[in-house]
Amino acid sequence: MQASSRSIVSNQSGPHDDLPRRVGRALTHPLQKPVAEHTREAFTAAARWRNALGESPLILDAGCGVGLSTRRLAKQFPDHAVMGVDRSADRLSREHGPLPANALLVRADLVDFWRLALADGWQPARHYLLYPNPYPKASQLKMRWQAHPVFPAILALGGRFELRSNWRLYVEEFALAITQATGAAVDAARYEPEDDYLTPFEAKYHHSGHALWRLTVTLPHRPQLLP
Ligand SMILES: C[S@@+](CC[C@H](N)C(=O)[O-])C[C@H]1O[C@@H](n2cnc3c(N)ncnc32)[C@H](O)[C@@H]1O
Repeated sequence: MQASSRSIVSNQSGPHDDLPRRVGRALTHPLQKPVAEHTREAFTAAARWRNALGESPLILDAGCGVGLSTRRLAKQFPDHAVMGVDRSADRLSREHGPLPANALLVRADLVDFWRLALADGWQPARHYLLYPNPYPKASQLKMRWQAHPVFPAILALGGRFELRSNWRLYVEEFALAITQATGAAVDAARYEPEDDYLTPFEAKYHHSGHALWRLTVTLPHRPQLLP
């Protein structure tokens, strides 16, 4: 199959100069944004669903889009509770087949959801961030998760974290930010999905001939990373 997704164009040739300062700030200045009521309600319902599944280890699929990856991960890990979270009601409502009993799609803003999960003591066994919007212009740095004030909460949850992107620099910046925040050494490596796509964006980018990149790292649960 052919696809024609445009390659990432950026005016950045290397990691953004301001990334270390932004990560440092996120590690020392509490995020002041109040949690939105709709995400609090969504979180409460998600926590209830999780409790009903008993002791199953948790997999978070952050920014799951239409939830294809959530469905696939649920089949791949039948003894885990797999939760896909996305803020787009439109994407979440698209028909992609029945949800396995161990999967849940949640409409919520991750900036709030991650913090609520951490505050409630959640410790995902696995945590996926698959093809987040890359925001490739240098001026868009603050929109990237690695430069966002919520970044420490993503890492503090712990578990095996996996990021995939078709923009190498995004993954490299994320790796640098993890190392700065935790001291863990992380590498961005090229990834070849071999027609076994986890998400629609992965399929689209691969069919368009883009190189795909990913990082994986296993982190301890460390709520004290939050300022
Ligand atoms: C490029 S899409 C990738 C979707 C899917 N992971 C895939 O690979 O096909 C990025 C997704 O992140 C979601 N997203 C971005 N910011 C978000 C936020 N603050 N809270 C929840 N979802 C968010 C968007 O709604 C979108 O569905």
